[in-house]
Amino acid sequence: MTTPVLETRGLRAAYGHRQILNGLSLSVNAGEIVALLGRNGAGKSTTLLAIAGFIADVKGDILLDGRPLTGAPHRRARSGTGLVIKGRSLFASLTVADNLRLCDLDPRALLAIFPELEPRLDVLAGQLSGGEQQMVAVARALLRRPRVVLLDELTFGLSPAMARRVVDAVVEQSRREGIAVLAVEQHIHIAERIATHAAIVADGVVKLHLRRDELLARAHEIEEIYLGHALDV
Ligand SMILES: Nc1ncnc2c1ncn2[C@@H]1O[C@H](COP(=O)(O)OP(=O)(O)OP(=O)(O)O)[C@@H](O)[C@H]1O
Ligand SMILES: [Mg+2]
Repeated sequence: MTTPVLETRGLRAAYGHRQILNGLSLSVNAGEIVALLGRNGAGKSTTLLAIAGFIADVKGDILLDGRPLTGAPHRRARSGTGLVIKGRSLFASLTVADNLRLCDLDPRALLAIFPELEPRLDVLAGQLSGGEQQMVAVARALLRRPRVVLLDELTFGLSPAMARRVVDAVVEQSRREGIAVLAVEQHIHIAERIATHAAIVADGVVKLHLRRDELLARAHEIEEIYLGHALDV
């Protein structure tokens, strides 16, 4: 049996007295993209932040290549865990090129993924459009030879054309380099385009694991999980 690149077992996380994750278990193999779906407030971002080491109160196991992933966020990043969260990923006062150099990357490597960014390499990252920033942040995460990349709402605020570019880049790099990807997604049709599998979160656990080919056919079940939870509260 292959060891998953990323695995969480019984992940529990809380903000103060408020328990958000209640034993969330999932796994992502090399070259797989798992879409994390669930209603607003279900705990999707919390799951990514807990894996990346940004949440203080976390219990359960997080394994990278079968070994416990622990410690401060920078240590987890060095172990091969990339995180892309909207609006927080780049240094706004550095140029695009310097944002890449800071991670020991050749700025030109970015152009292999998004050649259209060539005229933007010497522009301050803070002066890029939201979509361009997202492209740089995603490319930078993919280029750092990560074992796993955690993406929070990859296409948020992107035009359809830009969203397609970014999604396709993630799919291609994941396949080519065998990168495991855990991608929070709000929309089933984007999940269906990007993901090999999906995990639907409610009540702080994964309620349903699906393969991509089951996603659209079982959309009603996914909706019931969203609604069922909403009616409980
Ligand atoms: N820093 C925080 N302190 C306290 N509560 C928080 C904090 N961050 C998130 N929460 C709460 O935890 C719950 C889960 O939030 P989370 O951001 O993980 O949800 P989500 O599934 O990503 O939602 P969305 O789809 O809206 O982004 C929410 O009820 C939210 O209000
Ligand atoms: Mg979120």
